[in-house]
Amino acid sequence: RGWMGENLYMYRGYWFTSKTAFAIETTIAMQNTFQAHSTDIYLITQPKAGTTWIKALVFATVNRFKYKTNSLLTHPLRTFNPHKCVPFVELEFLSNFPTYTNQHQPRIFGTHKPYTVLPQSIHDAGCRLVYVCRNPKDILVSWFLFANKMSDRPRVQMTLDEMFEVYTKGLMPYGPYWDHVKEHYKVSLEQPTRILFLTYEEMKRDTPNTVKRLAEFLGCPFSKEEEAKGVVEEITALCSFETLKEVNQLGNYRDGVTNESFFREGKVGGWSKYLTAEMSQTLDDITNENFKGLDISF
Ligand code: A3P
Repeated sequence: RGWMGENLYMYRGYWFTSKTAFAIETTIAMQNTFQAHSTDIYLITQPKAGTTWIKALVFATVNRFKYKTNSLLTHPLRTFNPHKCVPFVELEFLSNFPTYTNQHQPRIFGTHKPYTVLPQSIHDAGCRLVYVCRNPKDILVSWFLFANKMSDRPRVQMTLDEMFEVYTKGLMPYGPYWDHVKEHYKVSLEQPTRILFLTYEEMKRDTPNTVKRLAEFLGCPFSKEEEAKGVVEEITALCSFETLKEVNQLGNYRDGVTNESFFREGKVGGWSKYLTAEMSQTLDDITNENFKGLDISF
């Protein structure tokens, strides 16, 4: 037993919950039956690493000819939660791919499943993958505050001390965090045209540059005319924390999870208001040990 009192199951080195769409059962069922298209794009993250944001950025960038990013009213991101525009692949798989995937080409999906656990057809088809990682201290705090608000099923509430304890042991859905990050970082070095590795922190530092890198990696670079017209800045503004938070004030994303709960603070370093110096040091030690020799910084 670990996170929120749930039973966790280890599969290929990672922990999964049971009996939800994101659980071990779906993960295994998808392994051999899910059919990827070679044009599919998969956005891989640890929960709370910036999933919602990368979904919005990629959706807006890839679909910028179909949906004008300067359109105040008609752009889908001005109406829908980014998780509706870019669904989790597990949810689409379970619901037999309803309207969404027919509407949008290329198909864009989010997932928290790590590389080694992805359905085999995603590897065989050579799909492009974008990975976003974030400082584990900010993830821990964000997860702690988000998870205690989720009411989609009976859960045991956790104190920050308890969450810290299971997080550092990797006993979280899709944990251990450090293995998840290292695995994608290494594949991104070996196969740079396959995985683009980003950090939440660099996305915050220079969002327009991130948008340009995404467009190039995904095979739809911005033309000089687009850049001159300010399309990169339009996408940055459309997907900003402030804009998305305002759009997502009302309604539920799914049972027990409000749209608004995906937009809390959207800052780098907010952990310092919650974690003790000792907690911070422990996380630094684990992170330094795990990322030794790797060029990953936050
Ligand atoms: P905080 O809780 O630190 O504010 P995920 O999308 O993976 O669930 O992660 C949620 C985190 O990303 C939350 O972090 C949320 O506020 C932040 N976030 C959501 N949209 C964002 C955006 N457009 N820009 C920056 N951060 C964003």
